[in-house]
Parts: sequence; C-alpha cells; structure tokens
Amino acid sequence: MSTIVSPSLLAADFANLQRDVELVNESAAEWVHIDVMDGMFVPNISFGVPVCEAINRHAKVFQDVHLMIEEPGKYVEAFRKAGADLITVHYEACRHLHRDIQLIHSTGAKAGVALNPHTPVAVLEEVIEDLDLVLLMSVNPGFGGQKLIPGIYNKVQRLKELIEKKNSKALIEVDGGVNADSAPKLVEAGVDVLVAGSYVFGSEDPKATIQQLNEL
Ligand code: DX5
Ligand code: ZN
Repeated sequence: MSTIVSPSLLAADFANLQRDVELVNESAAEWVHIDVMDGMFVPNISFGVPVCEAINRHAKVFQDVHLMIEEPGKYVEAFRKAGADLITVHYEACRHLHRDIQLIHSTGAKAGVALNPHTPVAVLEEVIEDLDLVLLMSVNPGFGGQKLIPGIYNKVQRLKELIEKKNSKALIEVDGGVNADSAPKLVEAGVDVLVAGSYVFGSEDPKATIQQLNEL
C-alpha cells in the first residue's frame, strides 16, 4: 500500500513555478495540490485562474485544486477549464453545497468538500455519497507552515466511520502541518491523501521527502 502525496505549490518558489511543477512530475507524487485564496474566505491571497492555467501547461500529475474562496460555485467552470481534475470547495463557503457538488461533477471534474477544524464531519451526512473526496483541514486555512491541530487524528476516524456507514467511495485528504511526525499517524488513522507544503519544499531533497511520504 502506498499513500497518495499531493505536494502543495503554496510552498513552491513562485518565481520558479515551472521548475517546481516539473520536480513534482518527476517525483513519486501522483497529485499536485493547488491552493487558491481570495483574501475573503481566508485572510490571505495566493493566486487565481491564470496561474492555474500556467501550472496546467507543465503539470503531468492529477491537479488537486483547493478553493479557499467565497461563493466558489461562480468559478468552478473557470478552474475546470484551467486544468483542475479535482475541485474542492469549503463547506463553510457554500450556501447550497449540494448544488455546488453537482456543478463540479457536471464539468467532468471530481468533487471534494473541505472542512475547517471547527466543523464536525456530521455536516456531510447527506452528501457524503456524492463526494469523491473529503479534505480535513488540520490547521486553520490561509497559510502554510502551521502546526497541526492534534484533534485531527480522531476526526479522521470519525470521517472513516461515516464513509463506511454510508458506503461512500470518498477519499480522505488531510491538509496542514503534515511532516515526518504526523504523517505516519495520519495514515494509521485512515488518511488516503497527504497534502504537504513546507515539509516538502522546505526540505533539502524534496523528491526524497515525497518518496518517504509515498511509502507510508
Ligand atoms: C493552507 C493550505 C495548505 C498549505 C499547507 O491553508 O490549504 O495546502 O499549503 O501547508 P503546510 O504543509 O506547510 O502546512
Ligand atoms: Zn490546501
């Protein structure tokens, strides 16, 4: 068994984005994680559709787009056109979550829903069967390099129980503070996809770090 690794380009060198996307292509990572922030849903602004288009020109791996934006439904088609294979919207940003999930699927992309640390997994009870992925935030979204909130391990287990109870095919992804210490415990708890930003791009040998996470 190997774990899907989704290196977060938020920690890449934006002036050398092509180089860092190619690094991911050549690594053991099957996915690349793309963090879009609007300065409204989260207190930070990262990048938008044009940068995703640029990433798409070089990425050969599955493009995992995490939308930390208000009213994400308005932009789903644009991000799909920009190359997104999976579009993840925040539960907390969607007034009509069910509609937004259908919208993502109508574009041909996979659909994910992200939960902030304070949001219980039970809010997904009525939509879990429609989801391809649930992203659990293990830090408050907006910035890389934060420390993982330890309650995440039990939360992963509760999500796994919900997925099994509902016979859902949703993968479990964890985002924030993934490193050598937390990653094995997360995989043990049932995580399928590990997002890692600063741990990968801040390491001396990012490809070796990705390999090490992949082997968990
Ligand atoms: C944070 C983003 C993360 C971020 C993780 O809001 O969603 O994807 O890049 O960064 P690290 O791995 O450094 O905690
Ligand atoms: Zn993210």
